[in-house]
Amino acid sequence: MKGRESGMPEQDQWEQFFDAEEVISRLGCADLVGDVVEFGCVYGTFTLPVAAKLAGRVQALDMENAMITATAEKARVGGFSNVQTILRDFVEQGTGLADGSVVHAMLFNLLHIEDPVGLLREVHRVLSPSGTASVTHWRRDIETPRGPSLPMGGRGGF
Ligand SMILES: C[S@@+](CC[C@H](N)C(=O)[O-])C[C@H]1O[C@@H](n2cnc3c(N)ncnc32)[C@H](O)[C@@H]1O
Repeated sequence: MKGRESGMPEQDQWEQFFDAEEVISRLGCADLVGDVVEFGCVYGTFTLPVAAKLAGRVQALDMENAMITATAEKARVGGFSNVQTILRDFVEQGTGLADGSVVHAMLFNLLHIEDPVGLLREVHRVLSPSGTASVTHWRRDIETPRGPSLPMGGRGGF
């Protein structure tokens, strides 16, 4: 089941909102050793910067074929062999990854889905005992150019 969302902007606009290198560095997703799982990769905005600094694979999941194709194409053009794109509904089916198999999980701009706790349980299952997770979400205390409404757990209004 696709998580509720406020509609994705086009890639160019989306990627103006973030300094991906800064985000992954500050959230501890850079320079990891081991496999990483990313929930909802969309355009690969964070996938490729993480892959570039990783000794391991990024397993990038999304249920939208267009998003998987976009991320896979970016990885191909960029010469990344450590990006594995996976077309999958992680709410209905889970990730399909083995217990404790990843060192890090990325949940970026996603936790406004209907059952965030269920998703976090899946994160906990696939993380290794010393594994970590990173989360980004819209702030409620300032105006932001995009984001889900307050009832969705977002920033409130457009
Ligand atoms: C708001 S976007 C996340 C953006 C991305 N993480 C980033 O920060 O650049 C949400 C993405 O999650 C995907 N998604 C939502 N529910 C999903 C589900 N149940 N299984 C797999 N992908 C899902 C959507 O297709 C969409 O691409």
